[in-house]
Amino acid sequence: MLKKKIEKALNDQIKMEAESSQFYLAMASWAESEGLNGTAQFLYDHSDEERMHMLKLVKFVNERGGKAIIPALSKPPMTFKSLKHVFQNLLDHEEKVTESINEVVHICLTEKDYTTHNFMQWYVSEQIEEEALARTIMDKVNMIGNDKGGLYLFDRDLEQTNITVDSPAGQQA
Ligand code: FEO
Repeated sequence: MLKKKIEKALNDQIKMEAESSQFYLAMASWAESEGLNGTAQFLYDHSDEERMHMLKLVKFVNERGGKAIIPALSKPPMTFKSLKHVFQNLLDHEEKVTESINEVVHICLTEKDYTTHNFMQWYVSEQIEEEALARTIMDKVNMIGNDKGGLYLFDRDLEQTNITVDSPAGQQA
């Protein structure tokens, strides 16, 4: 049985993952409308990935005797100033997610819930990957600057970049 404090921390994380999915979906839709199809594909995949992160938590909370809360979501922005702005937002957001996951891990330790602590390690590893990828992309965006040819190649490359580094929804890696 999950302790109330753990259940709350996990439900807060469910909301954060759902918001991430929604945020990246808005970015994907904007990129698509700008004709950046590779970027859009990457962001659509990233949005799906975040939904999977949410789902994994939902199932864990319910399996452990808690009640997962499917949250209401606020409307994300519809437009973004630039591609650089999109990926800066993405990197900033992932850093916040990492902080939040670290907080859940901390609560698990203080509450001596080693089962949830063990479950959360998958998220700790996932955040290392996601932050690293977001930083690599940001470096590329900075390198391109206003070069249209560079932007074309960046967009094409991003289509091949696979965000999925883990197992299917609901399964533990
Ligand atoms: Fe689920 Fe990108 O954090």
